[in-house]
Amino acid sequence: MSKSIKIAPSILAADFGCLAEQVICAQEAGADLIHIDVMDGRFVPNITMGPAVVEAVAKVADIPLDVHLMIVEPDRFVEQFAECGVDSISVHVEACAHLHRVLDQIRSAGCRAGVALNPHTPAIALGEVLGCINLINVMTVNPGFGGQRFISGMTRKLRQLRALVAASGKDIEIEVDGGINGDTISTALGAGATIAIAGTCIFQHEKGIAAGIDELRRAAAQAGANGES
Ligand code: DX5
Ligand code: ZN
Repeated sequence: MSKSIKIAPSILAADFGCLAEQVICAQEAGADLIHIDVMDGRFVPNITMGPAVVEAVAKVADIPLDVHLMIVEPDRFVEQFAECGVDSISVHVEACAHLHRVLDQIRSAGCRAGVALNPHTPAIALGEVLGCINLINVMTVNPGFGGQRFISGMTRKLRQLRALVAASGKDIEIEVDGGINGDTISTALGAGATIAIAGTCIFQHEKGIAAGIDELRRAAAQAGANGES
């Protein structure tokens, strides 16, 4: 039985000179949500965007905004991002000494709460917080940059998380983030991902954003038809 996967274009790979147009284009091409990578140059060796950019995206987007905080001390910025009108905020388990408290903070700020896992962090790290999250971001590259290769060993972790989520009986989305393209999306879908985050293969597709999204949808549908989901 085929199962659809949501597509979340990551604007990290977009042309920032015309970001609003690119977001609108992704939306019109059928993106399910927009993924926004916030980096601070400390948790990861790169600096990207902050609340001002998120606010600008929120002005033109009608679909949910999914903010991925790759920053230290994320609790200092949760409310600021929530006030931009985003739907979900994910923090890294590796960046939070008091993860449970930060997840409460995100939900109190009116957003869906997510937890992101670096490639080295085991699935079981989330065992005690499954009751207070809405989504899990499984990093399939080391965070910090777009355009990296999907780490294939992560499919085992995706399967473990799918099992943990199923056993919990909770409604938790599983995002796969990094190195997703027409080849890797089927592996991710087959291992349990419900949302595919993709930057390079959408925003830098040689035939344009809509073609990038189409290619992913077609590959996912094919995988479903082959019984990989
Ligand atoms: C990496 C980011 C990803 C990134 C994915 O740190 O979290 O969301 O934008 O980019 P691609 O699809 O190029 O791997
Ligand atoms: Zn991300």
